[in-house]
Amino acid sequence: MATAAIETHGLVKRYGEVTAVAGVDLTIAPHNIYALLGPNGAGKTTTISMLTTLVPPTAGSAQVAGYDITSQARQVRRRIGVTFQDIVLDPDLTGRQVLDIHGKLYRMNRQERKTRITRLVELVQLEEAIDRRVKTYSGGMKRRLELARGLLTDPQILFLDEPTQGLDPQNRIGIWNYIRELNRERGMTLLLTTHYMEEAEVLAHAVGIIDHGKMVAEGKPASLVSALGADVIRVHGHGDQQHFLHTLGTLPFVEQVQIDEHDNLVQVFVDNGNRRLVEVVQAASGNGFRVEDIAVAQPSLGDVFLRHTGRTFRD
Ligand SMILES: Nc1ncnc2c1ncn2[C@@H]1O[C@H](COP(=O)(O)OP(=O)(O)O)[C@@H](O)[C@H]1O
Ligand SMILES: [Mg+2]
Repeated sequence: MATAAIETHGLVKRYGEVTAVAGVDLTIAPHNIYALLGPNGAGKTTTISMLTTLVPPTAGSAQVAGYDITSQARQVRRRIGVTFQDIVLDPDLTGRQVLDIHGKLYRMNRQERKTRITRLVELVQLEEAIDRRVKTYSGGMKRRLELARGLLTDPQILFLDEPTQGLDPQNRIGIWNYIRELNRERGMTLLLTTHYMEEAEVLAHAVGIIDHGKMVAEGKPASLVSALGADVIRVHGHGDQQHFLHTLGTLPFVEQVQIDEHDNLVQVFVDNGNRRLVEVVQAASGNGFRVEDIAVAQPSLGDVFLRHTGRTFRD
């Protein structure tokens, strides 16, 4: 048995001319929560589809729970659960029917299904709604039902594709709590995808940032941020941006400058934000750039993305 829960080597998926996943290498330790973070179209769903054996890779290989996704797909399937981004639930079935059919599909006997469904419905707090038709459910309730379905077969590894997409903050935090509980209390390994930076930051032990089908950075969220070795001074304003930027470029403590035209925002990565604030303001005002707002911020995973891709990460 391999030591990693999930390991991929040069995983590639091409659809005709489109390369959805362009050679991804990742290793996920057992009992970890791993977030694959990236903008829309980055290749997250395609990666999960390959790892859950639903889509065959064009090239490369991967082991899940120690089994090869291509030659040992059945063994892989037996050990995983998966919930997808686009939830397909029959609106005319009740929540309980959805779970029961899923259990039958996996050849669980009646008693087993009954016991597990009762427990899971409790876990995701759907006791009151479980015998109602799915079409009466809110978005958050559908997600929770989908989560219960993914857990029905008691998987070692759970894949969650955008588990909180479209949910309001309260429901999002609810799902985060279930995810943490599954990880902490059962030692479950979780691979989730998200385009919400905050979700990766607060939830994951390790993050892989993916863009255009390629892994651009990987590690603990805090390590990725501290590896930037910098604070960010965010400057909003108008005026002669060119001169301002030029002057910034000559200052020895400035490590990188990023411009977001869209928001009239200049981000200055410096060794020490509080200490350099005044000098940055001077560089602006001395060069015809009017500062409307300026703040020192701790870099985020968004800044890690920026550093590696040169583009801003938009949720
Ligand atoms: N079945 C498919 N046929 C053709 N192109 C696809 C297919 N699935 C995904 N793609 C393309 O692959 C890229 C990655 O898609 P996807 O994995 O869904 O990204 P994400 O989940 O990160 O938003 C996108 O450009 C998408 O249009
Ligand atoms: Mg997706």
